[in-house]
Amino acid sequence: MADVRPESMERITTPEQANAFIAEQVEAVKKQVGDKKVLLALSGGVDSSVVAALLIKAIGKNLVCVHVNHGLLRKGEPEQVIEVFKNQMDANLIYIDATDRFLDKLAGVAEPEKKRKIIGEEFIRVFEEEARKLDDVDFLAQGTIYPDILESGPVKAHHNVGGLPEDIHFEGLVEPIKLLFKDEVRVIGRALGLPVGMVERQPFPGPGLGVRCTGAITRDRLTALRESDAILREEFANAGLEGKVWQYFTIVPDYKSVGVKNGLRSFEWPCIIRAVNTKDAMTATIEEIPYALLGKIVNRITNEVPGINRVLYDLTPKPTGTIEWE
Ligand code: XMP
Repeated sequence: MADVRPESMERITTPEQANAFIAEQVEAVKKQVGDKKVLLALSGGVDSSVVAALLIKAIGKNLVCVHVNHGLLRKGEPEQVIEVFKNQMDANLIYIDATDRFLDKLAGVAEPEKKRKIIGEEFIRVFEEEARKLDDVDFLAQGTIYPDILESGPVKAHHNVGGLPEDIHFEGLVEPIKLLFKDEVRVIGRALGLPVGMVERQPFPGPGLGVRCTGAITRDRLTALRESDAILREEFANAGLEGKVWQYFTIVPDYKSVGVKNGLRSFEWPCIIRAVNTKDAMTATIEEIPYALLGKIVNRITNEVPGINRVLYDLTPKPTGTIEWE
């Protein structure tokens, strides 16, 4: 497949168009790989999930999916990948819990770009090690989409997690969605029967919660971050904001403030809520969240998440802030 989207290519918006695209790609992949094996790093994000579901349809167990849990995923993410792909789609899925390995490497590292670099490099190393164990894998599949090729994909503009294993030779790359835009990938995902929550997922950076647990990551603060993020997502979903706000998440910085909990002085971390809207992630505006909803979230986080005694709402647009805090 060429790297340029033909002008004649229609935008995929309907299930019929999606089904036609899927049938076409299933044939193309079968023709490309025959009965050989294909390896895919399956993060659980929209792009890699759609590629996985498409390739399972085309070559079944000859697709080997590797899901690396770097310990910086959101609550319930690895479980969802296992449930959807292993239990429901009967995929050939290898799950690697590399949490300790990543957190040990990150211990004491406070500089944001250094953290990113460690996470990115370690990810490739873990993936390479797995690939080497499977000596009969010939092709590498990737969830490249058209904005990645155009290099205007702002979400991928940073040093990303993933990338190609450098020392392993593959016969070829399988990139079935590389001419598609994100909205088309979501239409394909729905037609493939992926859960709505997976297909409509908000963007999540490769380094994951690592850039939201600011400064040097500690396990207890990471747990507080994961729990507060889960509460925020649950309340946004209940309020019908899922899919309407581009990105919403919490940040737990590496300093504490004094408060009162259960009649006693507390000295705990604050938790910062960020909810932004944007078209291209280059600039972003603040979502106007109803006060009552914010109040409910503050109440839940301060009562349910150990280690947090204060919640703030970040009202800074981009610029001057960035979407993430690191
Ligand atoms: P910023 O923070 O620069 O983020 O306003 C813009 C968009 O990019 C995402 N982001 C990343 N995505 N690896 C990624 O894959 C990264 O290192 C990274 N850093 C930020 C961010 O979530 C937002 O959508």
